[in-house]
Amino acid sequence: MPGHDGPEVGDTLPSGRYRIVAPIPNAQGAFGQVFEGAVMTDGVEGQKVAVKKITMSRAIQSIRSIYPNMPNPRAHLAREWRTSLLSVNHPYICRTHCVEFTNAAGTPADLATCKFAFVIMEWAGEALIDVVLERGGLEEGSAREIFWQILIGIEELHKTGISHRDIKPENITLLGADADHPHGVVKIVDFGLAKTESQGALESNVGTERYKAPEIRESYERGHAYDSKVDVWSLGCTLYEMLTAKGSLANRANGAPRPACRCPPPCACLTAARRQVSSGWTRLCTSTATSLPPEPSSNAA
Ligand SMILES: Nc1ncnc2c1ncn2[C@@H]1O[C@H](COP(=O)(O)OP(=O)(O)OP(=O)(O)O)[C@@H](O)[C@H]1O
Ligand SMILES: [Mg+2]
Repeated sequence: MPGHDGPEVGDTLPSGRYRIVAPIPNAQGAFGQVFEGAVMTDGVEGQKVAVKKITMSRAIQSIRSIYPNMPNPRAHLAREWRTSLLSVNHPYICRTHCVEFTNAAGTPADLATCKFAFVIMEWAGEALIDVVLERGGLEEGSAREIFWQILIGIEELHKTGISHRDIKPENITLLGADADHPHGVVKIVDFGLAKTESQGALESNVGTERYKAPEIRESYERGHAYDSKVDVWSLGCTLYEMLTAKGSLANRANGAPRPACRCPPPCACLTAARRQVSSGWTRLCTSTATSLPPEPSSNAA
């Protein structure tokens, strides 16, 4: 039975359709935790899903810090789930099935009063950051296929009028290989900072520093809008990290390349790049996110 923190591992959500099965390691975010879950049929666990438990008070606080004039943060969250998530249907974009609301005791609640929201998503596999770290960087063939899928997914989002604004290897997941995808199937996740065109201009200073396009801060400081191309910068940083397991130099704060890792800052992790990036790939990274390291001399023609 749920305590005062709403449904937890082992509990079934009020609809009776989904159970929370186990926490996903490293999936504790600023205002939520993502769990492995299961579809329930006649009390029996079936298909695997992901369940993102959002603590509403923390989500509202975060929305207020981004949009100080937002009159109704709860409605904003609901709009985001409804428009950008529930309606996007693409093989490389993680599908949201539904959202359930509970109070602290775990009984059903509505959007206006709930303490917790549970976003039920398709199961999207392992975080790309973990795959990259496990392998010390991806082989170029594998990186090419995975990055291609990420590009197609982002293109689809942009065509639908959605800017993601937090593209990074933590927000890409990888499902097992199938006949068409021998290196795994990509899913883009985490639409916490995404914005649709109908929600207005892109003006807020949001994103994750080391992947964030410089024009986000510049536009914010000058009171201008930016556009969905900010995702392209983050793609360049993501690609570099996929290839090297090392943070891109593009957004370094203190002159030292930061390793890709899961440590909270300040990080003393010694994850080292094992792979040299060939000249073609370096050009691609450089053309999306500048200030990357020069091409290795061994690859110079
Ligand atoms: N549908 C999913 N299937 C499998 N794993 C997922 C899924 N969605 C998220 N995850 C895992 O949970 C982690 C955190 O999820 P997500 O990025 O959505 O939340 P967050 O960064 O904690 O959220 P926020 O930025 O909204 O606080 C991801 O890095 C990924 O490892
Ligand atoms: Mg995330």
